[in-house]
Order: sequence, then structure tokens, then C-alpha cells
Amino acid sequence: MDEAAKKTALRGITYGLYVIGVRDEAGEVNAFTGNWLTQTSFNPPLVVLAAKEGTSSQEAIEKTGVFAVSVLATGQKDIATQFFRPAHRVGNKFGELEFELGAETGCPVLKDALSYFECRVRQSIGGGDHRVYLAEVVGAGVFREGKPLAMAETGFYYGG
Ligand SMILES: Cc1cc2nc3c(=O)[nH]c(=O)nc-3n(C[C@H](O)[C@H](O)[C@H](O)COP(=O)(O)O)c2cc1C
Repeated sequence: MDEAAKKTALRGITYGLYVIGVRDEAGEVNAFTGNWLTQTSFNPPLVVLAAKEGTSSQEAIEKTGVFAVSVLATGQKDIATQFFRPAHRVGNKFGELEFELGAETGCPVLKDALSYFECRVRQSIGGGDHRVYLAEVVGAGVFREGKPLAMAETGFYYGG
């Protein structure tokens, strides 16, 4: 395969950029920025998320089977940036950002986001450097109207 072409072509996939909230079994919360997320069924409502193997977030999802996706608004690149770094290095990533715990999963959702949806894992698939979670949307909320943050607007890439 032409490696450069693969990278360019895969970077042609368009994405949103989200903050994905997790918790461990003791209720300790964390969140990470992710773009490998899409809906895959209307009924039941299903999404897939790819979470990097070995991160604290992936391990939390693996143990609890839940996560919550906060949909960021256009212009919120700074919030996305706040959640890139590994929790084991930087500690609490939420800082001054207010969050609440989703009623269905107990996972954190950002109050500055446009909306959120809570997910319960149904199946997972390994094999690559990210683990793929197929999850049912079991709760959702809307904080305000607005245009969602697109990956392209940030200049970031995660893919290729
Ligand atoms: C633009 C961008 C997009 C990312 N998308 C994902 C993703 O879809 N899935 C993922 O597991 N990590 C993704 N990451 C990496 C995580 O944000 C990163 O591994 C984070 O440190 C994980 O947090 P944790 O160590 O506190 O669990 C992305 C990073 C960047 C910069």
C-alpha cells in the first residue's frame, strides 16, 4: 500500500470532536477528547466509539460499560484541548469547567456543551490500537441550541 496515500485518504474522513465522559467503579470521573464516534442504528439508537487501548478512559469504559458524550459547540476548541492529555499525567482535567453526572450512567457531561447523550456498551471489538465499543444511547439532554464543533475547524488530525 502507498502509505502517504493511505494517510491522505483516511484524513479525508470528516469528523466532529467530542468530550467523552467516563467514571470508574468508585465513581471517580474523567473525560477525554475523541473524534472516532458515529451513530450506527436508529432503533435501537446505537453508536460506536473507538477508545485507545490502555488509556484510563478506555479502562474505565471496559470496567463500567458506560460513557457519556458531550457535544461541543463551534468555537470550543479550547475545551477540546483541555481533555487531550492523559489523566494519569495531568490529574483532574475539568478545572473550572462545570459538569453534571448523567442520570442514566453517572458519567460526567459538560454544562458548556450544546447537548449530551449517555451510552451503555453492548459489545466491544479489539484487534487494533483502539477498542471499538458498540453502545446503546440510554439518555440524552440539550443545554442550548448551536452549531456543533467540527474537527476541520480545529486544525487537529486524529487519523491517517
Ligand atoms: C484531535 C484528537 C482526537 C482524538 N480522538 C480520540 C478518539 O477518538 N479516541 C481515543 O481513544 N482517543 C482520542 N484521542 C486521544 C485522547 O484524547 C488521549 O489519549 C487522552 O489522553 C485520553 O485520556 P485519558 O488518558 O485521561 O484516558 C484524540 C486526541 C486528539 C488530539
